[in-house]
Amino acid sequence: MNNSNIAQSVPGMTLGRYHLQERIGQGGMGEVWLAEDTQLHRQVAVKLLPYVVASRVAAALEHPHILPVHDFGEHQAEDAVITYIVMPYITGGSLHERLRGINGLLPTEEALYYLRQAALAIDYAHSRDVLHRDIKPANMLLQRDWLFLTDFGIARLLTNSTIQIGTHAGAGTTEYMAPEQAQGKAEFASDRYSLGVVAYQLLCLQHAHLSVWHAAIPIANAVNTGDAFTRDSRQPD
Ligand SMILES: Nc1ncnc2c1ncn2[C@@H]1O[C@H](COP(=O)(O)OP(=O)(O)OP(=O)(O)O)[C@@H](O)[C@H]1O
Ligand SMILES: [Mg+2]
Repeated sequence: MNNSNIAQSVPGMTLGRYHLQERIGQGGMGEVWLAEDTQLHRQVAVKLLPYVVASRVAAALEHPHILPVHDFGEHQAEDAVITYIVMPYITGGSLHERLRGINGLLPTEEALYYLRQAALAIDYAHSRDVLHRDIKPANMLLQRDWLFLTDFGIARLLTNSTIQIGTHAGAGTTEYMAPEQAQGKAEFASDRYSLGVVAYQLLCLQHAHLSVWHAAIPIANAVNTGDAFTRDSRQPD
């Protein structure tokens, strides 16, 4: 089963108690749909994934800057099993979209505000022994200026081994990826490296278009060693 098969099979359908209404995004691994929870009568976001994933790890994380997982399940379609996770529907778009919508850099204060929220979420997850593995602006959703980190651990679940730089191989997005993670050896510092690349992008680049693999290394290292954006430096290395 590939993502295009998933895309063709779902318009208007119901997965469990979730009635899919409108496709709101397409990532490297699947689609995100606006849906109605037919029991609670509220709007939710449903992410379709190409494989069965263990969403329990992400569901166990509770933090103000981590988007909670409401539910997950499997739906037997005609020719395939569709796996999905259900999250709150966040109306403000992603930080990636926010960057695309501005001309030039974000105001520094705003950039630091987002970075700090993301860093707090990452620190918390690390304190629970959970790696994110795909830290990037597209996985930071915004409700006004409140940031929610999303897609926790999904990259890992789809990882096979070493991946090619410059491709999206379902193992994390390579522009933001630490060298050791690209070799299949992600560690806590790899998430902080990725946050360092995001910091470089927010504070130094004109546009979200990245080719900063080399340029970002010094700042990523500064984040890794100096905990530049975190309040508590006692998290494990
Ligand atoms: N809970 C949500 N509420 C509202 N919109 C969302 C939600 N989750 C995702 N989206 C939208 O769907 C888009 C696609 O998300 P998705 O996670 O599939 O792709 P991605 O983050 O760009 O790439 P990747 O597959 O590497 O995670 C996001 O950029 C965002 O605009
Ligand atoms: Mg994502």
